[in-house]
Amino acid sequence: MLRLVLVCLFYKFPHDSQPQPLHFLSPSFVPLEAVLFDVDGTLCDSDPLHYYAFREMLQEINFNDGVPITEEFFVKNIAGKHNEDIALLLFPNDLQRGLKFMDDKEAMFRRLASEQLKPVNGIYKLKKWVEDHGLKRAAVTNAPRANAELMISLLGLSDFFDAVILGDDCERAKPHPEPYLKALEALNVSKDHTFVCEDSVSGIKAGVAAGMPVIGLTTRNPEHLLMEAKPTLIIKDYEDPKLWTALEELDKQEAAVKPAA
Ligand SMILES: *[C@@H]1O[C@H](CO)[C@@H](O)[C@H](O)[C@H]1NC(C)=O
Repeated sequence: MLRLVLVCLFYKFPHDSQPQPLHFLSPSFVPLEAVLFDVDGTLCDSDPLHYYAFREMLQEINFNDGVPITEEFFVKNIAGKHNEDIALLLFPNDLQRGLKFMDDKEAMFRRLASEQLKPVNGIYKLKKWVEDHGLKRAAVTNAPRANAELMISLLGLSDFFDAVILGDDCERAKPHPEPYLKALEALNVSKDHTFVCEDSVSGIKAGVAAGMPVIGLTTRNPEHLLMEAKPTLIIKDYEDPKLWTALEELDKQEAAVKPAA
């Protein structure tokens, strides 16, 4: 009787809410070749600055009858999206006005960023791990070029990245996989040996659609929202022990497949 109950339990588990095994811990994932990073919210905690700029500037032009947008509206409709998509969402009948608004908003964002941009906790620890492992790395972002370059430079990461892939360089921005596929091509690495760090639903979807495991960061977006996009692992920031446990496992896998010296 007990045995039957146990069998039933084991039978049910895989179909229920048990977490999936970490895809990138499968033996075929090593040797690791590259890591791809989103920028906003993944390298730096920039969303509060974007939110502030949107809220102030939309209120200034009497958007929504002058009622300030909420953080919930921002997370749901704006965070992680490409500017043209945001322009269309905010000004469905006047794309030109929308695009002009976005340009002005980005100028305000860059002023704020120059004074207040903060790196995500632990990013320099992961940077060192990536460098010590000799991995290639790219930044892959929907941000406009001027923003991306400014943020990467303010963070002191200009020399770290082998390539920066912008949504503007792609026919389709995230959540479409194209920016991530372009990054794999630019680095000449395989999706089967590369993982992605992302913090938005749109970005995680893009990485997953490009066929890679994605580590989701809850910098600003809640875990339940990110889960919709099916990340492999969710962490708070790069100090999260869950990340380092996973990376240690990866090291063990690599050691196991490496021919003895
Ligand atoms: C890309 O990588 C493959 C091995 O993975 C190598 O044979 C090829 O020469 C590389 N191509 C370029 C352009 O570096």
